[in-house]
Amino acid sequence: MSSTSTILVVLIAALLHYHIGITKAQLDIGVNYGMDGDDLPSPATVVQLFKNYSIGKMRLLEPNNDVLEALENGNIDVTIGIKNEDLPSIASSPQAAGVWFNEHVEPFIPLMNFQYITAGNEVVPGDLAKHVLPAMQNIQNVINSYNYTGLRVTTAVEIAALEGFDPPSKGAFAQNARADMVQIINFLSNTSSPLLVNVYPYFKFASDPDHVRLDYAQFTATSPIVQDGNLSYYNMLDAIVDAFYWAMEKEGVSSVDAVVSESGWPSAGDGLWATPQLAQTYNQNFLKKFIARQATPKRPDHYLEGFIYGMFNENKKPAGVDQNWGLFNSDGTPVYPVFTKV
Ligand SMILES: *[C@@H]1O[C@H](CO)[C@@H](O)[C@H](O)[C@H]1NC(C)=O
Ligand SMILES: *[C@@H]1O[C@H](CO)[C@@H](O)[C@H](O)[C@H]1NC(C)=O
Ligand SMILES: *[C@@H]1O[C@H](CO)[C@@H](O)[C@H](O)[C@H]1NC(C)=O
Ligand SMILES: *[C@@H]1O[C@H](CO)[C@@H](O)[C@H](O)[C@H]1NC(C)=O
Repeated sequence: MSSTSTILVVLIAALLHYHIGITKAQLDIGVNYGMDGDDLPSPATVVQLFKNYSIGKMRLLEPNNDVLEALENGNIDVTIGIKNEDLPSIASSPQAAGVWFNEHVEPFIPLMNFQYITAGNEVVPGDLAKHVLPAMQNIQNVINSYNYTGLRVTTAVEIAALEGFDPPSKGAFAQNARADMVQIINFLSNTSSPLLVNVYPYFKFASDPDHVRLDYAQFTATSPIVQDGNLSYYNMLDAIVDAFYWAMEKEGVSSVDAVVSESGWPSAGDGLWATPQLAQTYNQNFLKKFIARQATPKRPDHYLEGFIYGMFNENKKPAGVDQNWGLFNSDGTPVYPVFTKV
């Protein structure tokens, strides 16, 4: 080999190496970074942990500028939440919405990709529900004033917003949620934003294990468990997401996608069903489903995104299962293996 071609080969190898180094594939899966613990690692360590396990998306339930600074130029998509107790002021004051946005989002926009801003978490139905739409509108107006496109405003709801999901075609908004949900989904339709839904088959299963099948809750059924018209359901998560689609369609909205903003399985805290083995099975199957981009029977061609709850066990949450949703211990070791280190 001539010395010129040797140099060329070395150069190409170096370029390839560099290329691989900077474009290391991130998994198209999110994890909620809940911070209700007094022993959690520093934000910089947490961000490194996301990178070490190729977790491509992070959801923050409330703004935290230390975390946002650690995320700068980090190639991790970020969802950031307005705290529930901040909804009334942001809903009633365009100026407060501007202050919130300028403090927690605007300075970071050149340095990272924000996916969603959530106006509250699980506040519909409830006393704060009436503030969700005006808060979303005020934040959207700030975004519009900056001409930022691609940043979506939404809110995260749970199954309490529904009455009936079994079978999914029975899905409809609960009476005490309906008026707010109709306004919210019309806003989401107008702005091409998705509805975030927190979906926990664990609670449905653990509260009634005699009647709810474990394989249906854990994505391990090998034949359909629920037949709904011509749609077959092998797992409860799909059924709950589709119940939200049915509920929206009954209000005349069929263009809004769902995003699974929280799901998981606790590894301890109730003795019987909260075990590391069951948590591992659930979260491994969740990961498999979402990185394979398997959507739901009702909207099989839609892109469904998913976020696991959560990154860490959180020792300041109420005792019991609440403290034990984490994939990782506070020292960064896995509670049980789900993600593979790169
Ligand atoms: C990330 O991986 C590197 C290389 O293996 C290791 O040195 C570092 O401690 C890891 N960081 C975390 C937070 O896991
Ligand atoms: C946003 O776009 C409009 C119309 O193109 C323009 O007049 C305005 O100056 C832009 N605003 C900002 C903050 O860039
Ligand atoms: C959605 O857009 C329609 C048509 O522009 C408008 O009449 C309606 O008020 C909007 N609704 C919300 C909640 O933004
Ligand atoms: C399934 O049922 C729905 C509603 O009855 C119908 O609109 C649709 O065409 C059916 N799809 C197939 C593949 O049969």
